[in-house]
Amino acid sequence: MYKFFCPLLFCLPPEVAHAITLNLLKFATVLKLTHFFVCKSTGQPINLLDLQFKNRIGIAAGLDKNGDYLDALAALGVGFIEVGAVTPKAQIGNSKPRLFRLVKEQALINRMGFNNKGVDYLVNKLKQRKSTCIVGVNFGKNKETPLAQAADDYIYCLEKVFLYADFCTINISSPNTPDLQQLQTPLYLENLLTAIKKKRDDLTIQHTKKLPLLVKISPDLIDAELYALVDMVDKLGLDGIIATNTTNQRSNVTNHSLAKQIGGLSGKPIARLSYEMLVKIRQHNKHLPVISVGGISSVADAKQRFQAGADLIQLYTGLIYEGPRLLRKLIEL
Ligand SMILES: Cc1cc2nc3c(=O)[nH]c(=O)nc-3n(C[C@H](O)[C@H](O)[C@H](O)COP(=O)(O)O)c2cc1C
Repeated sequence: MYKFFCPLLFCLPPEVAHAITLNLLKFATVLKLTHFFVCKSTGQPINLLDLQFKNRIGIAAGLDKNGDYLDALAALGVGFIEVGAVTPKAQIGNSKPRLFRLVKEQALINRMGFNNKGVDYLVNKLKQRKSTCIVGVNFGKNKETPLAQAADDYIYCLEKVFLYADFCTINISSPNTPDLQQLQTPLYLENLLTAIKKKRDDLTIQHTKKLPLLVKISPDLIDAELYALVDMVDKLGLDGIIATNTTNQRSNVTNHSLAKQIGGLSGKPIARLSYEMLVKIRQHNKHLPVISVGGISSVADAKQRFQAGADLIQLYTGLIYEGPRLLRKLIEL
C-alpha cells in the first residue's frame, strides 16, 4: 500500500509528506486498521539494558520529534521507538526548506536543527501513551546554549523525562546545531558525560528506577576520536552507544544536484560508513551494548549489522523509501 502512495507523497515537499504519512498512520491506528500492513509475528525478543525488547528493530530518533505518534508507531510492531531530539525549550529549527530527498540514491539530506516543541510537551505525550512499546528519548541542547553549559540542557531534559522514558540518548552528534559535535571531543566529553551520569545516578536512588543512558555518535569521527569516546562511555559506566547519526560527507552522492545542500546525509549512501563504525566499535569493545543505525534498507543490511555485533538496529530513511513492509521483513527475520 505504501509503495502505491509513495509516488504521490514524493510529489509533495518532504516535510509535508512526512506529516501526512504519520497522521494517516495515526488515523489507521485509531480505526484499528494497522493489522492490514503490520507484521503478524512479534519477532525475536531480547533482554538488553535491563529492558525486555519484543524484537530488535527500532525507529530512529528524528522521525517523531515530539512523541506525537507513539501509539501509531508502536502499532507497526517495532521493538522500540526513539523520540526527539528534544531540547529544554521549544525551538523552530532552521528555516525551510531543510529536508531534501535524493530519490535515486534512497537518501535524505536534512538540516532540521532540532525543531521540537520542548521537553514539557514531550513529557505529556509520554504520559498519554497507551502502548507498552519501549521508548527512548533523544536529548539535544538548545541552539543558544553555549557548549560550556550544554550539560545543563541535557540534565534538565533528563530530570523531566526520568520517570516516563525507558532509556535516554545523549545526542552529541547532530551536524545541524552549530558546534554540537565538539561535545564529542576530549575538551568537553568527560565533564559532560560525568555530570549527566551523576544526575542519572542521583535520580536512580531518589526514584528507585533505572534509566539506561546511551551516547549517539557521528560517523565522521576519526578512529582515535571514536576509540577515545567508546573508552570514555565504558569507563564512566554509561550503558551503550548508538552508531551512527547522519554524515557530513558526500562521498557516494558527489554528483547529485542536492549534494551541496548543508546538512546530514542519511540512507543508503551511509550504510557502509555506519557499518564500518560498528565493526570498529566491536573490535575495540566487545561488551558495550551497541545500537546500529544508518542506511539499513534491507534484510541483508540488518543481518550484516547483527553479524557484526549490533544488539539492536534502528531505521529512519529506509522507512521513508520502503515503508512498513521493510519493518515487517526485519521483524520476521
Ligand atoms: C529528518 C531527520 C531528522 C533527524 N533528527 C534526528 C534527531 O533529532 N536526533 C538524532 O539523534 N538523530 C536524528 N536523525 C538521524 C537518524 O536518527 C539516524 O541516525 C540517521 O538518519 C541514519 O539512519 P538512516 O540512514 O536509517 O536514516 C535524523 C535524521 C533525519 C533524516
